Amino acid sequence: MGKLDFIYKRRSVRNFLDADVPADDLREILKAAIYAPSGKNLQNWHFVVVKNKAKIAEMAQIVERKNAELAELLPSEEKRKAFRGMVAYHTVFKKAPVVILVYAGPYPTLATDLAEAKAAPLDLIHALARPNPGVQNIAAAMENLLLAAANLGYGTCWMTGPTYAAEEISKLVGFTKPGYYLAAMTPLGVPADDKGTNPPRKPLDEVVTFIE
Ligand SMILES: Cc1cc2nc3c(=O)[nH]c(=O)nc-3n(C[C@H](O)[C@H](O)[C@H](O)COP(=O)(O)O)c2cc1C
Repeated sequence: MGKLDFIYKRRSVRNFLDADVPADDLREILKAAIYAPSGKNLQNWHFVVVKNKAKIAEMAQIVERKNAELAELLPSEEKRKAFRGMVAYHTVFKKAPVVILVYAGPYPTLATDLAEAKAAPLDLIHALARPNPGVQNIAAAMENLLLAAANLGYGTCWMTGPTYAAEEISKLVGFTKPGYYLAAMTPLGVPADDKGTNPPRKPLDEVVTFIE
């Protein structure tokens, strides 16, 4: 047992048993998510928890349809084929007992203020907007959620693939909140296998620079 096993226990799970997630565990996991840090403590997140099997299956069909539709827009058969080939990775939630949709809400910054007032050149606005703290908040909550779930024995998979069907998914579940959009989602359930490991990481020295 290493000291940081609570980190290493998490991996992306894409197959689930047909077993419920008790309501208490679900609340515990969501509570961990909202204890993530957020810029100005703005907590610009909203979680939509889908537990309805028919709706989850329909959500997967919606993503499949949208994938086929969007593939047609791509300029070459090679790109169309590659995009269609990804659809299995955009629907890995389809057998999970729970799907959590993670919505991101507005997060005003200097960049948004300048953009609204048209008070600075576009390249300056883009440069200022690039770190996107509003989305960083959502990512922090998402990682807390995933780590908490793993530590309670559940599998998850951070997913942004299906967000190309954000509008259709939001309509299916009937969720709207002004300024909020679907940023990510995750299935949640008991993993169907326990032999999975994380894919390899780049060596630490490749992605870390120490300034002494
Ligand atoms: C922002 C983000 C989006 C992702 N989207 C998807 C997705 O749409 N479908 C999928 O199967 N996995 C998705 N993943 C999971 C990654 O493929 C996975 O985290 C990566 O391969 C490392 O594996 P591990 O999570 O098991 O450590 C996503 C991960 C992140 C962080």
